Amino acid sequence: MRPLSQRFARNACFGLLGTLLFTSGVLVLLLWSWLFDILIASMLVLKPDSQTFDLWRKPPIPLALDFYFFNWTNPEEINDPSKKPRFVEIGPYRFRELREKVNFIWNQNDTVTYQQLRRWNFDEENSVGRVTDSITTLNAVTMSAAHHIKDWNYFLKRGFSHTLAAVSPDVHIIRTVGELLFDGYDDPLVDIASTFPFLSAGIPSFDKFGWFYTRNNSYTFDGIFNIGTANGDFGQVKSWNYENETKFYSGECAKVHGSAAEFYPRNLERDYIGFFSPDMCRYVKLDYEKDTTIKGINGYKFSAQAGMLDNGTLRPENECYCNGECVPSGMLNVSSCRYGTPAFVSLPHFYGADPIYVNMVEGLHPEKERHETFITLEPKTAAPLEVSVRLQLNIRTLPVDSITLYEEIPEIFFPMLWFEQSVRLPNSLSWGIWIVANANIICPIVGSVMTILGTSLLAYVTGQLVTEAIHQRKQKIHKLYKEEVPLTQSTYDPTMFKRKLSYLDIIYS
Ligand SMILES: *[C@@H]1O[C@H](CO)[C@@H](O)[C@H](O)[C@H]1NC(C)=O
Ligand SMILES: *[C@@H]1O[C@H](CO)[C@@H](O)[C@H](O)[C@H]1NC(C)=O
Ligand SMILES: *[C@@H]1O[C@H](CO)[C@@H](O)[C@H](O)[C@H]1NC(C)=O
Ligand SMILES: *[C@@H]1O[C@H](CO)[C@@H](O)[C@H](O)[C@H]1NC(C)=O
Ligand SMILES: *[C@@H]1O[C@H](CO)[C@@H](O)[C@H](O)[C@H]1NC(C)=O
Ligand SMILES: *[C@@H]1O[C@H](CO)[C@@H](O)[C@H](O)[C@H]1NC(C)=O
Repeated sequence: MRPLSQRFARNACFGLLGTLLFTSGVLVLLLWSWLFDILIASMLVLKPDSQTFDLWRKPPIPLALDFYFFNWTNPEEINDPSKKPRFVEIGPYRFRELREKVNFIWNQNDTVTYQQLRRWNFDEENSVGRVTDSITTLNAVTMSAAHHIKDWNYFLKRGFSHTLAAVSPDVHIIRTVGELLFDGYDDPLVDIASTFPFLSAGIPSFDKFGWFYTRNNSYTFDGIFNIGTANGDFGQVKSWNYENETKFYSGECAKVHGSAAEFYPRNLERDYIGFFSPDMCRYVKLDYEKDTTIKGINGYKFSAQAGMLDNGTLRPENECYCNGECVPSGMLNVSSCRYGTPAFVSLPHFYGADPIYVNMVEGLHPEKERHETFITLEPKTAAPLEVSVRLQLNIRTLPVDSITLYEEIPEIFFPMLWFEQSVRLPNSLSWGIWIVANANIICPIVGSVMTILGTSLLAYVTGQLVTEAIHQRKQKIHKLYKEEVPLTQSTYDPTMFKRKLSYLDIIYS
């Protein structure tokens, strides 16, 4: 046997460990859901020095923005009523995106005000071509200008018509991917518009035109957000550009609310989630679709259905997004939010929209897998597991009388391009969320194992102590009787044991 001091130290250690394990095991079993709630709640706040803030300020997840263009193959047939415009999809053109929030103001009312900088770099390796590829598309600038002046008097319109014939005689343009997106291109009409300010209301007031022109490196384009930092308001947009109502829609549709698309209220229900989209200048509702599993984590999938796409027929509350005349479902009028350009947003290839749209053109084939928009969240924490935001930009073409170029143009929603931003939870973060998501199984197991281990250790130590005590007694008795009888098994005699006992009684009483 080891020396007494060592045995004592070991037993004390085991005893302490056992007690600790047992107590914490029982505490975990009794209190885990409460503790867990506190832990999660403490993580879901924005504070200048919190880890959540760091993750939010500059997300460590690589983001990409993929663009797909619709190359228009028969522009010369635009005035032929027996022919539909034909399109060939070309893409993806991938741009890596860097996002960073800047210019924080921490307000007294539990909100933070900030702006968002976005920077894109072309990723040629993951693209089908280069930014110098040529695309044939509708001339959105002239179409837009024609829209704007359609109610002018005959003589002014004729004047404009002659100007158009001189500077931009075609319905279509051929531009490079780079020009159509970030670099912008010179359009004669844009120059004219800057000379004649009365025209400029129909045309973006920039020196060039491009769908993402002036957006690279800009922290002003997306606007100024004010979001809640704690409790029920955590991550919810309270105001945009210092207003809690936009001027782009009316009534309820003008309200600035919903998530800033990063955090959602936890303990989700299977009904809907909503976020505020600065691209569409509006609140967007995604309806619950189904439960799914991503990397072993259960999630609720919310997707763009009637809540986002309906024109007011199924969801009366959507009617105020029409901005006047409602169009068949699946098409959002974003004209007012895009400087009066007759721009309309749909899902790619008119997915989920009234079939009337896809039948106006040739070459578009909606597919759920490729074209739907959805967000899958882990229901307890509302952590995003998978996000695919896909939108298509269309220009509404309308015949405008007295303007020769557009007198015969059919009335269609002309697809220009669509883009996709898809993110899947990276492995480096998924295990943490897996643990949180499965806490209701893990915690009781861990608690039970701890309790059992603690109990076993305590039982072991108790056993050791008892053995020790017996051994010590034996030794004492042995000492007392050493001279009389050697305490060996061969000479063991029950009466002797009784006498030993009585001796022990004396010693311990
Ligand atoms: C788009 O179509 C035109 C002909 O209609 C073609 O010359 C051009 O190469 C196409 N663009 C791309 C990127 O394939
Ligand atoms: C909180 O305070 C800031 C600064 O005073 C203000 O801009 C913001 O609108 C306020 N937010 C709410 C929800 O009251
Ligand atoms: C955006 O700006 C950065 C420089 O700040 C530049 O390197 C990058 O090429 C630009 N991206 C695009 C798509 O023009
Ligand atoms: C919006 O702001 C106005 C004052 O600026 C306030 O009276 C109104 O209650 C706010 N609306 C909401 C929904 O917060
Ligand atoms: C789209 O919105 C603009 C601006 O609000 C409006 O003038 C136009 O009539 C709307 N178009 C349709 C088709 O509703
Ligand atoms: C709204 O959409 C539905 C379905 O696409 C369509 O039948 C209806 O005509 C649309 N309403 C209006 C006012 O355009």
